Amino acid sequence: MELPASLRQGVEALLEGTPVSTLREAGKILSARYRAEVRDGRLHMAGDRAVKAYLAQRLPATYAAVRAAMAAVAEAKGDMEPRTILDVGAGPGTALWAAADTWPSIQQAVLLEASAPARAVGERLAQGLALRCEWHAGDATLSLPAMAPADLVTACYLLDELAAAALPELAERLWALTAGTLLVVEPGTPAGWRRILDLRSRLIAAGGHVLAPCPHEAPCPLAAPDWCHFSRRVARSRLHRLAKEAEVPWEDEKFAYVAVSRHPADRRAARILAPPGTGSGKSALKLCQADGVAVEKLFTRRDAGAFRAARRADWGDAFDSSA
Ligand SMILES: C[S@@+](CC[C@H](N)C(=O)[O-])C[C@H]1O[C@@H](n2cnc3c(N)ncnc32)[C@H](O)[C@@H]1O
Repeated sequence: MELPASLRQGVEALLEGTPVSTLREAGKILSARYRAEVRDGRLHMAGDRAVKAYLAQRLPATYAAVRAAMAAVAEAKGDMEPRTILDVGAGPGTALWAAADTWPSIQQAVLLEASAPARAVGERLAQGLALRCEWHAGDATLSLPAMAPADLVTACYLLDELAAAALPELAERLWALTAGTLLVVEPGTPAGWRRILDLRSRLIAAGGHVLAPCPHEAPCPLAAPDWCHFSRRVARSRLHRLAKEAEVPWEDEKFAYVAVSRHPADRRAARILAPPGTGSGKSALKLCQADGVAVEKLFTRRDAGAFRAARRADWGDAFDSSA
């Protein structure tokens, strides 16, 4: 997946003149903090250098993950036409760009971000979008500024930066501000999945309908050491490769997510939970079904229609063997 051209150009303009060595060093510190899920009261993106490292090394991957999650939401609810978005923990505005690409109906955005340099960069990038945007400073764990509910509320790669004790109240606040759909995306680690599961059960208890990835509101059928996550391949730009000292021109971003709506999905196809297993004349899919059960299903040439559909399908796709 590639960034929209105007976002890519905006990022390149912001990084122009920054020495690769600076991006490399700041990127190492940033990655180490993310990997260790450091919560020491300081923001990971407290300074300009960290924000630039995020633009070079993380934004393409978080964009790809959020965009993929939004595609799944749009598929589950084809009549969704959000006009307003509230993005909490917006960083450089990644979710705003992904939402604008998914739903051209979006006209107005409110973005909350605690880090001043991330806000400044996000505001500058968002000038490339023909939308009314309002950026707010604030700490989502303390309170949210007085804001009107939005059709789409997003919190992407935010929860892993917060103390676990803050999450129940934040879930309540985000849901109260959701007029339509709340989408939360986290890193695709077992810890990210557990945060998503906790949030999912709270939102279902509050009356929410799951749009994706689960085609049901039953308890998650997966149990540790298994966990529900997905993956997107991301092209690395030349600068991205240089900043990461990486040879390979791509990377795989693993993510976990849940989208919960005030309104039910209009499509409840099974979700493919792992890379399909293919062999000559057969295809095996691990599916999470609408009855809340996870199954491994084998499709063979004997059922030509279902087999063809299974051969075309990929990890993370909605799958309906009768389609
Ligand atoms: C990993 S970044 C994700 C940025 C963006 N959502 C994305 O997906 O690329 C998390 C963002 O949340 C912000 N953040 C962390 N704690 C916050 C808090 N308590 N209130 C508001 N924003 C916060 C950070 O400053 C950072 O910009």
